[in-house]
Amino acid sequence: MNLPPVIAIDGPTASGKGTVASLVAEKLGFHYLDSGALYRLVALGSQQAGIDPKNASALGQLTKKLVISFKNGQILLNSEDVTEVIRTEEIGLRASAIAVHPEVRQALVGVQHRFRTNPGLVADGRDMASVIFPDAVLKVFLTATAQARAERRYKQLIAKGISAKLEDLLHDLQERDARDSSRGAAPLLVASGAKVLETSELSIDQAVKTVLDWYQSAIV
Ligand code: CDP
Repeated sequence: MNLPPVIAIDGPTASGKGTVASLVAEKLGFHYLDSGALYRLVALGSQQAGIDPKNASALGQLTKKLVISFKNGQILLNSEDVTEVIRTEEIGLRASAIAVHPEVRQALVGVQHRFRTNPGLVADGRDMASVIFPDAVLKVFLTATAQARAERRYKQLIAKGISAKLEDLLHDLQERDARDSSRGAAPLLVASGAKVLETSELSIDQAVKTVLDWYQSAIV
């Protein structure tokens, strides 16, 4: 049985992988999985339930019970619209703290596999190529310097009317990079066979075009 093709796009925080992955999906008419949103949902759900981010077994239990749905660009947690709420830096940091636990990661495997439907899937995260879709037809590691990523996040927040300090963002981002890269379970890494796309000097269009070109070469 031939499973639908997957393009796996992994990379550190604020590397632009979400933007690039969703545009690539749109161009190809593929489905899109924002796996980071799942970890953010667990972060929010566990905060609401008052669970300590270190309590692996309680977090694993909670993850299995969460009712998650993605509909028309909206993200629902137990029927509540949390699309915006999960995007704060606070939830991002908490997501990186709960994502270290194998109990949480394991409970999200099936949810992620269910996104793989015809005609294909573009999946972004940290372990798409290494753990969740090791048979992806194209594996991309999208990155940029910490300074370039902090500046991008700063502009995003300011554009949304949220006040931010560049030094604080750079510090948070370096903290998240260190934790995501050093954890034992599914660390952030360049998977074997992945192509590295350094985007510090690239526009979004250039990055999207590169991924589409690589995909065309990968399927011939
Ligand atoms: O938007 P940003 O790139 O900062 O983060 P995200 O992709 O929404 O992911 C939030 C956090 O979830 C990350 O810092 C990771 O610790 C974790 N995550 C993960 O462990 N595995 C994934 N496949 C995706 C996200």
